[in-house]
Order: sequence, then structure tokens, then C-alpha cells
Amino acid sequence: MNAISRLATVISLASLLPVAAFPVTALAAESKGSVEVVHWWTSGGEKAAVDVLKAQVEKDGFTWKDGAVAGGGGSTAMTVLKSRAVAGNPPGVAQIKGPDIQEWASTGLLDTDILEDVAKAEKWDSLLDKKVSDTVKYEGDYVAVPVNIHRVNWLWINPEVFKKAGITKNPTTLEEFYAAGDKLKAAGFIALAHGGQPWQDSTVFEAVVLSVMGADGYKKALVDLDNKALTGPEMVKALTELKKVATYMDADGKGQDWNLEAAKVINGKAGMQIMGDWAKSEWTAAKKVAGKDYECVAFPGTDKAFTYNIDSLAVFKQKDAGTAAGQQDIAKVVLGENFQKVFSINKGSIPVRNDMLGDMAKYGFDSCAQTAAKDFLTDAKSGGLQPSMAHNMATTLAVQGAFFDVVTNYINDPKADPADAAKKLGAAVQSAK
Ligand code: GAL
Repeated sequence: MNAISRLATVISLASLLPVAAFPVTALAAESKGSVEVVHWWTSGGEKAAVDVLKAQVEKDGFTWKDGAVAGGGGSTAMTVLKSRAVAGNPPGVAQIKGPDIQEWASTGLLDTDILEDVAKAEKWDSLLDKKVSDTVKYEGDYVAVPVNIHRVNWLWINPEVFKKAGITKNPTTLEEFYAAGDKLKAAGFIALAHGGQPWQDSTVFEAVVLSVMGADGYKKALVDLDNKALTGPEMVKALTELKKVATYMDADGKGQDWNLEAAKVINGKAGMQIMGDWAKSEWTAAKKVAGKDYECVAFPGTDKAFTYNIDSLAVFKQKDAGTAAGQQDIAKVVLGENFQKVFSINKGSIPVRNDMLGDMAKYGFDSCAQTAAKDFLTDAKSGGLQPSMAHNMATTLAVQGAFFDVVTNYINDPKADPADAAKKLGAAVQSAK
């Protein structure tokens, strides 16, 4: 059974349950409607970003019901969302990404009409890159609002720690990365802050795949799911390098949240972290300045590539007119110029609007965001722009789960063999497809 029919089967059970078994919340007299938003933006920096949206929606007269579900990468939030849907009680709006959006839309639970007028009036089709708009459409209709773009293949560096360890240059190759890691260890620092949760392991895995196999190889293996690319010699090499990268990971990082690991780099306990640019939200919340207190560089060997991760908010069908109006308000706010600027500055991302991506300095974005925008536009032309597997952009959640299992087992098994792991990867992915 493929992933779409799997989700559809689960959701269709919902029709057996009484509809709208949930209580209608009493609204404050002046509220135009109440919208619940399920998301996983719960770290200090992420919360600061989502509060920008909440404040605007409330200012517009709607009641924001916060459906935050802790857990980086969102797998807990997705589990909660599925059980809410099965119980016939989906929220008005939920953070859903990539091919998962189409999967949800195919169940009939997403609203294919509610965004139409806003999208036309605000000219979304011309404001957005086709890669972005395709991600949030189902059979030609917008079913989600794209919020921002994250780059995943970053390496975050504390230059003060590098200096103390005697490292004079930011690493641009894997060899230089290992040399820096050795010096950091020798000087008593954690070389690589890393929380050993599956999505974080796979965030590192895909960066290493990109470095070893290039954007073309990455696409074949992690996007097209080509069995030869998944099991071939280049993948074996990538897995060999991954094992070496893992020797620099924080020994106390098992099961640790990404933001707690980011804090170790910010506080000078660790030298580096491989993480998407939501990590910048933590640096920003700690009042640190890009290019001065910290450095963002492409993960070694990946400066000509950009693994993208588009956060988006999907709209679920609702009976209540006030909620529907609230969904439209959220959609309008999110793609507005001011929100795009303030949210992304807090979140560490870059805007989804093409006009803004071309003129980042004007909006006061820092050096990391300016580099990200420039690379996004350049790599879109060169083929270096690829969807992140670890962040739900490349595959369905079922296939992503197969990657997560094999990669995390491989990192944690002291006897693991890269050639054997590549075979397992191919088999697991083929059966999850
Ligand atoms: C990503 C998401 C980001 C950030 C990160 C950590 O998947 O796109 O917005 O929240 O997870 O939770």
C-alpha cells in the first residue's frame, strides 16, 4: 500500500465517528472567529517568531488558539495531527510540509477553495518561485500558505572557541572539518554539538551525502530514490564519512533537543553544529550577531548547493464561518511584506517572496540570510537547489521514516558496516515507497 492510500485509510476511519464531537469554544464578544494553529515552533527563538503571527492575527480581531506540540522536526506534531484527524477534530490550520501536503489534500480534509481569493488578490503566483508554489498546491489549488524558506546545509561556528582551539580557518572540505574537530577535542571542547534524535542524525546524513555525492547524486538518491544511487559506491563513501563525522558528536547528545545543543555552541562549550538556519533563531534570541559572535558557512563541500525546507501552514475544511475568515486572515498576513521580514529575521529563515529575496539588504537581513537568498536564487538555476529529505520536503513521511531508521541505527551501531548499511537503505526505501 503506498503512503497516500495508507494515510487515506487511516483518515477515512474518521467518517465512522460522529462529526464535530468537539465543543464550540465560547468566543470573546469582540472576536471575529477562532483559529487553532498546530505547529512545532517551541524553542525560545522559534516562539519569538510565531508570536509575530499570533500578535497580528489577534490585532486583526481573531482568537488564536495555540496548538504548539514540542519536538524538533515535527514528528510528534504530525502524530498528534493524524490522531486529531481520525477523531474528526482537525485544527483550522496546521504546519505541514512538502509532499505530505498533497498526501493530506488527497484525503479530502484540506480546503481547496478558502485560499483562492486571497491568492488571486495578493498575486501569489507571481510572487512565488514555482518550486515554492507547487509545494503548497494540490491539483492546481492552494491548500497551504508558504511561510518562509530555510536552508538546511549549514555549519554554525563559534569563532571564539575556534580561536581558543588554535583553528585559523573555517572548514571548507571534510578534511578541514576533521582537522578542526581534532583541535577542538584536544583543547577540551565538544567538537560538534549534536542531539542524537533521528531527524537530527538525518540532517547530518543528508549534508554529508550532498558533500560526497554532489547535488546530482543527492537528487538521485534522496529525491528520486534511485536504488543504484542508494546502494552504490558513492553512498558507501558518504556513509563512511558520516561515521567519521559522528566521532566528533557530543557524547552527551543522545536524545537531546537541537536548541539545547545550539546553546552549547552559543555558550562556548562546543565549536560547531550542523543544523538548518532555524538554529540562527537561538543565536538571535541570545542577542548574538552573525559574522561577529558566530559564523554560518555552508557545510564543507556543499557551498554550491542549497537543501531547502519550506515551512507552510495548511488549511483544513471548517464549518464555522469565523474560523474560515481567520484562515484567510492568516494567509493574507503571512505573505505580507512586513510579516515576511520580521518573522524570518526572528526565525533565521529567508522570505518566500521573490521580490524580497532579490533585495535582502534593503530589509535589514544579516549576512547569513543575505548569503542564503543569493544562493537560493543562484542554485535554483544550476540545479544545486534540492529539497531536504530530513525535513519532509523530498519524500513522504513513510519513506523518510525508512531513511531515519537506517541512518540512526547505523550511527549508533559500533560494528556497522557502510556497504551493508547502503544495502539496508535501498531495501528499506524501496519497501516504504
Ligand atoms: C524544521 C522546521 C523548522 C524548525 C525545525 C526545528 O523541520 O521546518 O521550522 O522548526 O524543524 O524544529
